[in-house]
Amino acid sequence: MEVKQVLHMNKGTGETSYAKNSRVQSKIISITKPVTEEALLDLLCKKFPESLGIADLGCSSGPNTLSVISEIIDVIYAKCCDLGISTPELKISLNDLYSNDFNDIFGSLPALYKKLKEEKGVGFGQCFISGVPGSFYGRLFPSKSIHFVHSSSSLHWLSQVPPELDSKASTAINKGRIYISKTSPQSVLDSYLLQFQKDFSLFLKSRSDEIVPGGRMVLSFMGRRSMDPTTVESIHQWELLAQALMNMVSEGLVLEEKVDTFNAPYYGPCAEELELEIQKEGSFIMDRLEAVEVDWDGGADMSNTTETVTVSSGQRVAKAIRAVVESMLESHFGRDIMDDLFRRHVELVDKHLAKTRTKYISLVIYLIRKG
Ligand SMILES: C[S@@+](CC[C@H](N)C(=O)[O-])C[C@H]1O[C@@H](n2cnc3c(N)ncnc32)[C@H](O)[C@@H]1O
Repeated sequence: MEVKQVLHMNKGTGETSYAKNSRVQSKIISITKPVTEEALLDLLCKKFPESLGIADLGCSSGPNTLSVISEIIDVIYAKCCDLGISTPELKISLNDLYSNDFNDIFGSLPALYKKLKEEKGVGFGQCFISGVPGSFYGRLFPSKSIHFVHSSSSLHWLSQVPPELDSKASTAINKGRIYISKTSPQSVLDSYLLQFQKDFSLFLKSRSDEIVPGGRMVLSFMGRRSMDPTTVESIHQWELLAQALMNMVSEGLVLEEKVDTFNAPYYGPCAEELELEIQKEGSFIMDRLEAVEVDWDGGADMSNTTETVTVSSGQRVAKAIRAVVESMLESHFGRDIMDDLFRRHVELVDKHLAKTRTKYISLVIYLIRKG
């Protein structure tokens, strides 16, 4: 699977879109907000640059993209007001893979610029927002041009399926599974870890070239608290999806070989694995690393009473997962089985949640560029 070309969140604003089903990620953005704010204020109190380079990596599209930018501008604007100085030029780069719905983002910019002008007096001449398509596992920006990097719910995606597990590999070594599981052979765990190490070190190396000395980076992504990658908290979402696929195999609706040769380009690391890569790469000081818990359904939205009553928790969770993984599953299994697959998935998630309240673990790290 060519992740760079295949992976994108469900586009538009329809029922299965990411825009409508990203409450978990929105919750993570708001939990991370105090760290983002602290990092920006630390950055600004060192030396106030005339022009600030800011990047959101893996921005996707929809309300979360705009809420991140607005939050960053709010903090900078409030600090400038406190100091009685004018807002610096802001060069805000929104990055994601090539097939991201950049059109949706661009379409919503006029409303954002209008709001900035009305509420803060920040105009076109001060705030330059642009889209940067490409993989964050590699260079995206000129040397020393970025002061602050933000990335939320994105770095758990690997640049590729570990090569030993890719569908082109001659023997399937993770039969009946689509990610690490309790029954996966050790070689599967090793391949995933190796791919994560390669990717994360390349990410750090690329950012170390782009970020100015003293620049800040706040990253949050799915991970785990335990050093064991087979703990329930880190694998269960994939186990339920694999189960739905295997149910379809047992009814002859999907070829078993198709499931055996699909493995998700995903890895949820633990703190120790992250720290090791940060130390090895050597360009960043880690100011903070926290693990935060988020309900699988992002918590019920009590303001939306109709939804709370009519949509089960399982439906919300399954829709949120569908909005994220459908592009990948569709490219491997074909479009035709998607509705059936996710109907089965809802049932399995509902059954699971009736027994256990399950949480995602998101790791939040705050890094400072040495120099
Ligand atoms: C779950 S979405 C998170 C979007 C947004 N940051 C949020 O918090 O709602 C993950 C995003 O990361 C992007 N992504 C994954 N791998 C990437 C890569 N190598 N380079 C750039 N973006 C990537 C995906 O395309 C997707 O839009």
